[in-house]
Amino acid sequence: MSGKDGRNIVITGGAGFVGSHAAEYYAGKGWNVIALDNLSRPPVRGFGINTKTYNWNYLKGMENIRLVRGSVLQQKTVDELVSEADAVIHTAGQVAVTTSLEDPAGDFNTNVRGTFNVLEACRKSGNNVSVVFCSTNKVYGENVNSIPVKSSGLRYSFSDSRYSKGIPESFPVDSCKHSPYGASKLSADIYVQEYGKTYDLRTACCRMSCIYGDRQFGSEDQGWVAHFVISALLGRKLTIYGDGKQVRDVLYVDDLVRAYDSFIESKIPSGVFNIGGGHRNTMSLLELLGLLEKRLKSRIEPDYGDWRNSDQKVYVSDISLAARKLKWKPGVGVEQGVYRLLDWASKTLRVPA
Ligand SMILES: NC(=O)c1ccc[n+]([C@@H]2O[C@H](COP(=O)([O-])OP(=O)(O)OC[C@H]3O[C@@H](n4cnc5c(N)ncnc54)[C@H](O)[C@@H]3O)[C@@H](O)[C@H]2O)c1
Repeated sequence: MSGKDGRNIVITGGAGFVGSHAAEYYAGKGWNVIALDNLSRPPVRGFGINTKTYNWNYLKGMENIRLVRGSVLQQKTVDELVSEADAVIHTAGQVAVTTSLEDPAGDFNTNVRGTFNVLEACRKSGNNVSVVFCSTNKVYGENVNSIPVKSSGLRYSFSDSRYSKGIPESFPVDSCKHSPYGASKLSADIYVQEYGKTYDLRTACCRMSCIYGDRQFGSEDQGWVAHFVISALLGRKLTIYGDGKQVRDVLYVDDLVRAYDSFIESKIPSGVFNIGGGHRNTMSLLELLGLLEKRLKSRIEPDYGDWRNSDQKVYVSDISLAARKLKWKPGVGVEQGVYRLLDWASKTLRVPA
């Protein structure tokens, strides 16, 4: 395996949604890609395909990609794979708030220890590696809920004008509830920042909001846009927890990978960046249902349940810093992205007759 660019990148979580898109992108650019995954993401059933291996098989046989089945918890494996890397994108993780509540120890191991192992491998390689870490907006925890919100039509919005562009990176992360997932990702985020300041690594903590796109197998626990799109397409009953006016900024996965690449290809120093659709690309759950009803030309009647632990009524990323420093902005609009995902799902998943 030798890509024409010649540079080497390790992508942890390469069988996952974000990781497999990043792997495909770098292989296409001629980098030598190593995708590491232990295939531990729980399968999402009922799609008529094996969701656990779908993205792994998708990458199989692609030029410039080597697939390695292994865990970020195996330090020796990670050390070996990273020893020649110019860049690492660390996507592997326990990704669901719900699972972190049921198994906080497992969540801690994967997200904190796993990230620490990756950082150690990068430090020991002595290659001045550029490291991108998939952090999350959940690091801001329930502090976000202290911002007053107003309701109008089908959505909530922040009523404090200081946040009209969303939540900046300077927003407090302390003294609030997070969920074990938020806590493990925040610990890892701080380790990544620390390694960027203390050792010869260039690190980006990308605090991502909702990422969506093709090849995403969303479930009630994670990946709500894909979960809604696929459920609507397959005619499955959806449950909305809360009143459905919750708002998120959403970013198409291709735009996310471009943001990573802007960091990796730049010379800018280590940093923390909120990465999402920003205030121009937001939607509420009810608005997404509206878009789907329009496209599928059928009425969707969800069930309603209680609000979920640590849910935020509004989360919108202020992406001004990323726009300025990374010279990056989202390119795929909400309606365009939702319909792209819907088109992929209708071609790929087994839709009942
Ligand atoms: N998708 C989003 O909207 C979103 C938002 C914010 C943050 N994130 C973060 O981005 C990252 C990628 O998310 P995703 O949506 O692609 O999730 P995903 O579940 O599709 O991918 C994660 C991958 O990591 C792998 N993995 C888990 N434990 C591992 C281990 N010990 N060793 C090796 N591989 C392991 C899983 O098998 C899976 O393939 C995660 O760290 C997640 O916390 C995602």
